[in-house]
Amino acid sequence: MNIDWFAIGAGSILLLYIVYRILLVLFNILGPYVFFQPIDLKKKAGASWAVVTGATDGIGKSYCFELARRGFNIYLVSRTESKLVQTKKDILLKHSDVEIRYATFDFTNPSPIDYQKLLSQLNAVNIGILINNVGMFFEYPECIHQVEGGLDTLANVAIVNILPPTLLSARILPQMVSRKAGVIVNIGSAAGAFPMAKWSVYSASKKYVSWLTATLRKEYGDQGILFQTITPLMVATKMAGNPNTSFFCPDSDSFAKSALNTIGNSSDTTGYITHQLEYEMMNLMPEFVLDRAVVRSSAQLKEAAMKKKEEKLLS
Ligand SMILES: NC(=O)c1ccc[n+]([C@@H]2O[C@H](COP(=O)([O-])OP(=O)(O)OC[C@H]3O[C@@H](n4cnc5c(N)ncnc54)[C@H](OP(=O)(O)O)[C@@H]3O)[C@@H](O)[C@H]2O)c1
Repeated sequence: MNIDWFAIGAGSILLLYIVYRILLVLFNILGPYVFFQPIDLKKKAGASWAVVTGATDGIGKSYCFELARRGFNIYLVSRTESKLVQTKKDILLKHSDVEIRYATFDFTNPSPIDYQKLLSQLNAVNIGILINNVGMFFEYPECIHQVEGGLDTLANVAIVNILPPTLLSARILPQMVSRKAGVIVNIGSAAGAFPMAKWSVYSASKKYVSWLTATLRKEYGDQGILFQTITPLMVATKMAGNPNTSFFCPDSDSFAKSALNTIGNSSDTTGYITHQLEYEMMNLMPEFVLDRAVVRSSAQLKEAAMKKKEEKLLS
């Protein structure tokens, strides 16, 4: 009799847990992407400028266009001046009612003194939104001792992925705190959610991005400032090797538009509904299955990168 009651109790708890997990997965996929309405971003930002790092290509550039469409002035930060000038022109051609400024900065530079100079430029305007987007990956996934570019690459990936969200947040937060409003979005990666073989420093540094955002949320969340981590899977950009778009691989414009709509509705999400679906499936997989999938896709990425390299050499 007692054993029966124990079995019923344990079975009920297990069932409740399974129902809870299924509801959570559905909530993560449908909540921010189907059911919730985008918030009033201007009100939450509390100021008219948005700063975007890595603003001249891919996801960062798309965030700039979408934020300009929503009426924000944009401060572009990137390393190539000619691309900054062109991006400014392109945005103004489409959205002539906003103001665009730019600052040139190579984020492989870890000097706090140079960061101070950049920050004094940025803090001259009222920043409502900071998009810490700039990031760097290896040429292709590889074991840590065989990464192309060796120690320079490993150091740069760590510096570019970790320092900008840390230092820019630390020195832009004061003006947000004084207004009791502001939004900081840190672009991580789904690669930071799982320990991925051959993605070492990239995976670890993106884990840092998520962790940093979560700690800042605890420090400043009650001061009117909103923190979000976006953890994309594959988006068709230069960093991803410019793959064709597909159901699971959106173009950067669709991605940025979708990700911006989740601000205020999810503090940590992939940014795109099919990515969320993919992420939830990965989360449910046993680790050894996921590890095998990572090995397979890493090998494909390496092969594609090597092929491109060969073609470039021959042309
Ligand atoms: N694409 C994906 O599949 C994917 C997936 C997960 C996460 N992410 C994350 O999303 C973010 C954006 O990636 P993306 O794919 O859009 O990259 P992307 O297309 O390669 O664009 C990178 C941007 O960052 C700038 N940049 C690169 N290195 C820089 C440096 N050292 N200093 C200053 N600016 C620099 C580039 O400027 P230049 O034009 O001068 O090079 C460009 O504007 C990254 O944090 C990445 O880790 C991307």
